Amino acid sequence: MEQESLNDVVKYANQNFPTTINAAGIQLTRKLLAIDTEEYPVETDQCISYVHSPREAEKLLWQLLEILDENLGQKYAGSSRALYHNTRPWRVNKWREMLTPGLVYVIYSTAATTTATQRRNAPFSPLLFLSFMLTEEDGLVADDPTEVWTVLYLYELQLLPRVRRLGLAARLLGDHLAQCGRQLCTRSRAGRFSKTRFFGLELTVFADNAPAIRLYESLGMQLAADSPTVLDTDSLYRLYVLQL
Ligand SMILES: CC(C)(COP(=O)(O)OP(=O)(O)OC[C@H]1O[C@@H](n2cnc3c(N)ncnc32)[C@H](O)[C@@H]1OP(=O)(O)O)[C@@H](O)C(=O)NCCC(=O)NCCS
Repeated sequence: MEQESLNDVVKYANQNFPTTINAAGIQLTRKLLAIDTEEYPVETDQCISYVHSPREAEKLLWQLLEILDENLGQKYAGSSRALYHNTRPWRVNKWREMLTPGLVYVIYSTAATTTATQRRNAPFSPLLFLSFMLTEEDGLVADDPTEVWTVLYLYELQLLPRVRRLGLAARLLGDHLAQCGRQLCTRSRAGRFSKTRFFGLELTVFADNAPAIRLYESLGMQLAADSPTVLDTDSLYRLYVLQL
């Protein structure tokens, strides 16, 4: 399902995430990147395809790994074994995860300068990104925790410090990703891709990541039925959902 529906996710990401954003005078431009497969390649040139341009894709993903390292590297270093159930360095585990087929990345960098020569000389240097994919999950609602739903799962939401507290994450998640989710929900109801009902958004957050938890709760997200809670004092993470 993740791979078959990839072109739907790319299409709605392309429609809903603005190609440029102005945040407090900082002009940002967008790139889309998808981890596609030979069987289900990305069909639009609006999105970098891992299958068609692996070098370009990996170069960008490497830049995103650096953002992750700057933001949460210490946290991942301390929890990699518990999260990934192996002893490999967290960056190795995260790199593999970043190449999961079906993932779509929305990446913003400072705007390219105006002339073609300036654009060639100014490397695309990401300041923020998010990544997500369609997948199936249970444990979402207390009424029936065994029911399996289709969700748009947010894997990453990462902003470098210089673009934080400008309302960007709230816009990207609450407006643009939620709108992608609503369109996927409509598509799903038409029987386009999933056999299970579409729920909405889901994500995992470190239990001690207070700024992120505050963001998610301010957007109306709630703990999933099977999420660890404050009572699970040694739990590393929480699961949040937003029904659309
Ligand atoms: C968490 C993160 C995504 C927030 O992004 P952001 O663009 O700065 O958030 P916004 O400006 O849209 O803030 C929206 C709301 O979130 C909450 N919030 C965001 N940052 C906060 C902080 N440092 N402290 C407390 N609340 C915060 C507030 O409720 C805020 O609303 P307000 O500004 O009206 O008070 C960003 O800090 C980040 O990338 N952190 C490092 C990586 C990370 O932790 N990602 C989440 C992984 S699950």
